[in-house]
Amino acid sequence: MEKIFVIETKNTHYVMGVSNEGIVRHIHWGKKACADDYNVSPEWERNSNHSELDYISEEYSPFGGTRYRSCAFKCEYYDKCRDTVLTFKDAKQHDGMLDITLTDEAYDIDIILHYRWSGNDDIITRYATVINASEHDLTIEKLMSAELMLPSEDIYDITNTNGSWAGEFQLETSPFKAGSIRFETHRGTTGHVNSPFLIMSKNATEDFGDVYFVALGWGGNFKMEAQRDFIGMTRITIGLNDFDFSKILHPGESITTPKAYIGYTNGFAEMSNQMNDFAVNNILPKSFAKKPLPVLYNSWEATGFDVNVEGQLKLAKIAADIGCELFVMDDGWFGQRKDDHAGLGDWYVNEEKFPNGIDELIDGVNALGMDFGLWFEPEMVNEDSDLYREHPEWAYHYDKRKPSLLRNQLVLNLTMPEVKQYVFDVMDKMLAAHNIRYIKWDMNRPFSEIGAPNLENQRDLWYLHTLAVYDVADKLKEKYPYLQIEACSSGGGRAEYGALEHFDMAWTSDNTDPVDRLEIQRGFSMLYPRKSMRAWVTDWNSHSRPTSLDFRFNVSMQGSLSIGSNLLNYTDEDIEKCKYYIALYKDIRELVQFGKLYRLKNYRADGMYANQYVSEDKSQSVLFICSTATSFFNRQFKTVLLKGLDENATYRVNTPEGEKIRSGSYLMNVPHPIRLAYPLESVIWRIEKM
Ligand code: DGJ
Repeated sequence: MEKIFVIETKNTHYVMGVSNEGIVRHIHWGKKACADDYNVSPEWERNSNHSELDYISEEYSPFGGTRYRSCAFKCEYYDKCRDTVLTFKDAKQHDGMLDITLTDEAYDIDIILHYRWSGNDDIITRYATVINASEHDLTIEKLMSAELMLPSEDIYDITNTNGSWAGEFQLETSPFKAGSIRFETHRGTTGHVNSPFLIMSKNATEDFGDVYFVALGWGGNFKMEAQRDFIGMTRITIGLNDFDFSKILHPGESITTPKAYIGYTNGFAEMSNQMNDFAVNNILPKSFAKKPLPVLYNSWEATGFDVNVEGQLKLAKIAADIGCELFVMDDGWFGQRKDDHAGLGDWYVNEEKFPNGIDELIDGVNALGMDFGLWFEPEMVNEDSDLYREHPEWAYHYDKRKPSLLRNQLVLNLTMPEVKQYVFDVMDKMLAAHNIRYIKWDMNRPFSEIGAPNLENQRDLWYLHTLAVYDVADKLKEKYPYLQIEACSSGGGRAEYGALEHFDMAWTSDNTDPVDRLEIQRGFSMLYPRKSMRAWVTDWNSHSRPTSLDFRFNVSMQGSLSIGSNLLNYTDEDIEKCKYYIALYKDIRELVQFGKLYRLKNYRADGMYANQYVSEDKSQSVLFICSTATSFFNRQFKTVLLKGLDENATYRVNTPEGEKIRSGSYLMNVPHPIRLAYPLESVIWRIEKM
């Protein structure tokens, strides 16, 4: 008998049904309709080359039968059979949760499709669990978190990123007409190229149009694939990458996939704002999710590896004076770390640089009223280190292959319990002995020579390594509840929801050029929470286009403001500016980190950026405008229309031209001129309800 399951979010329906043959079919995802009308439409055979199984909308397609498309699940049973038949077994549904169990009766395996949602937004969390209830081993070769169907044969635009180191989150959109397209990583980490999200849109703008999206909570090897079939339907699978992957489930064992967050909204702004709130409420580690993040100072761009107690304290004094709340010492403080050739793995304080121990610095920083934070790169080892001399077998390796060094370092095999324990212990020891309230967890190279002789099945290492990273981070946060951890991987190589379930924030890019940064930040803002985006003001202002300190602050104040400049070189005037902007940021940071974001203008379309943030109750707003045209000739007369305000309220608007009193309806309906006379100028408007 047919069964229908309706998931009702704030504005959408997601509907599935069980066909008479027991197949769980996808029926609808989009605007709400009368629930009684949903039904499983009959299947009909097309011809001997295109069977019904080949084109029907399934909720979770296994490999097998007459399906000739990319699947969500593939395995090999003990008798070498690789054909899976999944039929509906049972379902549990109540209060924002639905678990549908599919079963392959002949082999005693169950797959539970999990759905979680609330009535507050339009986001559904999807994941799957495979249970081996048989008496034989099961080898899984492909395991996706979710399969998605777009509603019609219309052509959708697909957006992902095509980034690089120092150029993360470069959005790329193309119409998807035929064949298949995939975005993935094989690197062991997320990497800088494709971010684990997909946006599928139809005639969409910031304000209107169908926007379907999915973001995956996984920073190891992931894969997102879209396929358009012979009747024009677009299917998406998203989950663990099946590249060099397999997982053996022994009898009685199970595996649960990473979570996929899916949603359907009207326009891109709604997508970004829903995901921002959803991440704050449901994804980010609870301890700091709802608190604004502190303004931090990081010494990396000022001192590089050349850290010592005097130098760091000199910077700390100025950092405290301008209003920073957290002082972070970056790379260089440990082992024999003079440059990037040595020291990784030896996490003891370098006595030459800190002859009286690290507490001299930490106490000094605390006395200035700031918390102290420290950099680690826990998953790595240099060949020139005590750790590697003692345990060369702790790095991934093949006996007959020369290890490929990148930045002179190798990746530790975190799938070995003793290595994972070591990594936890070294950080635990530092945290137990010193008042360290923040860790920057870096990861500066992808994997290679991925031998893990400790494992029964080495194709599991990609998966296990990522889990080990998350486990160590979770255990540290559990033991030190005040600890904040930042995920970093040569910039934004680990800035996604896998990391953000376990780390409080992410470093978005090593590129701190403010003009480049605007585009990086725009890409990040599409699906990731703004508070998690660390954004430094630095001295990167001279790569052929000098920018003012005002401009640099304007850009960095749009995330979690941080300072990375060499403050020792700042003039009195610069210091006063820092004080002014940091104080202003503290005043508006709730707005920026938790408010609604409206991307009013961007460089690609408009030749400038204008981003407006509005508080939940519409009483406060701030507008950042940056003209990024690099020639005087390109400057144009621009106007801006504000969004998200209360039409009926009166607002006080502070602009560089002075204060104006205007109604919400005026501000949102009558375009206002933006007076930026020269390239690379910036302004901040504050808008407050009277
Ligand atoms: C790469 C990071 O992205 C930088 O911010 C810095 O921490 C360096 N590593 C230190 O080696």
